[in-house]
Amino acid sequence: MDKLIIEGGRRLSGTIRVSGSKNAALPILFAAILCDGPASLGNVPDLRDISTTLNLLETLGCQIQKADGRCSMECRNLHSEAPYELVRTMRASVLCLGPLLARTGRARVALPGGCAIGARPVDQHLKGLERLGASFHIDEGYIVGKCKKLTGTRVAFDMPTVGGTENLLMAASMASGETVIENAAREPEVVDLANFLIACGANIEGHGESVIHIQGRESLHGCAYDIMPDRIEAGTFMVAAGITRGELLLENCPHDELKAVIAKLAEMGMEIGRLEDGRTRVKCDGRLDCVDIKTQPYPGFPTDMQAQIMALMCLSRGAAVVEESIFENRFMHVQELLRMGANIRVSGRTAMVKGVRRLSGAPVMASDLRASASLVLAGLAAHGITDISRIYHLDRGYESIEKKLNAVGAAISRQSE
Ligand code: UD1
Repeated sequence: MDKLIIEGGRRLSGTIRVSGSKNAALPILFAAILCDGPASLGNVPDLRDISTTLNLLETLGCQIQKADGRCSMECRNLHSEAPYELVRTMRASVLCLGPLLARTGRARVALPGGCAIGARPVDQHLKGLERLGASFHIDEGYIVGKCKKLTGTRVAFDMPTVGGTENLLMAASMASGETVIENAAREPEVVDLANFLIACGANIEGHGESVIHIQGRESLHGCAYDIMPDRIEAGTFMVAAGITRGELLLENCPHDELKAVIAKLAEMGMEIGRLEDGRTRVKCDGRLDCVDIKTQPYPGFPTDMQAQIMALMCLSRGAAVVEESIFENRFMHVQELLRMGANIRVSGRTAMVKGVRRLSGAPVMASDLRASASLVLAGLAAHGITDISRIYHLDRGYESIEKKLNAVGAAISRQSE
């Protein structure tokens, strides 16, 4: 297993290009199951979750070719079983459920694994698909679903679930008649998926809003489509500039989709602005101030940035309350940050962070994707060496993170344990 060794205390300065979004690419790759012609996707990031998805799609019968960041796919003779060996490392695999049912009327998908950040059930996905006419049972750790032709109807989610909305959007695009999704997730990645489906001939209105209307189509064709840039990767680099009191120019940065993050970083004292050439300039001159954070569904502050901004808070002036309202077990980075000298107290879904003057490098362990990113950020600012093990989590979601950060002044090396 690889680990990262970070020599902290270097100011970052330079330009970083933001990669394509992992959380947009995954559902869009699964959506290609719906197309009866070839789909060509650009800006697909080179990540472990993406290669797992491509393996899974090949297992399901899709033909895939990859060249120069583009991924061409054709999904004709489909099988319906998504095996546990592939699904267990990546929760997003459950996104093949909707497209498989819509296209083949059958799906056998292992119950997902993925990041250990809480219970993360899939009841809303199943409830939504059942409303369209599918039936499910659990057999030996697999969700087994079947349906005749799916039929559009009204579905109200109990909470705005990103994956649930995506599964239903895909299934409803090929159901007969109209589907209305109420309390839909409004995340930009849901919008990117809807735009891909529309480019394939789907009829969708209201994506990005809480109520989405879908008129089902008999079939969808393929298309060429570029995946949106990764707002969480971009936000992580913004924090990297802040925590090292540096200055970064971010190319391909989804500025508008990061409004809640940018507002908080500006409140802390960072300078963030868009240049005329489209790049985003991020700058930090001195010690920042702690500000309270509450994670919320989009357009609120994203749970996927909570661990990273907490690392920044650890070295800021004053104290702040960080409340995690989306997932119940998403403070696993706290124990590791404490090992580096942070002052944080967790009570339930709330963490109280008191800023300290310095963090010191330590051996720490990555526990989930965004927790790993927060340890990298803390390591960039800490005195001495931070040694992060179990970084396979990081490789699931950040494309060449150490190369990108080293190119702007960090000193990170990768070692095989
Ligand atoms: C997606 C993102 C993840 C992000 C999250 C919230 C991907 C691959 N993952 O995850 O990075 O942190 O959105 O923005 O895009 N819930 C249920 N039942 C369900 C579904 C969800 O109870 O059937 C609950 C979850 O436990 C959680 C909340 O709903 O408390 C939100 O989860 P959801 O939006 O579904 O997250 P994911 O789609 O898994």
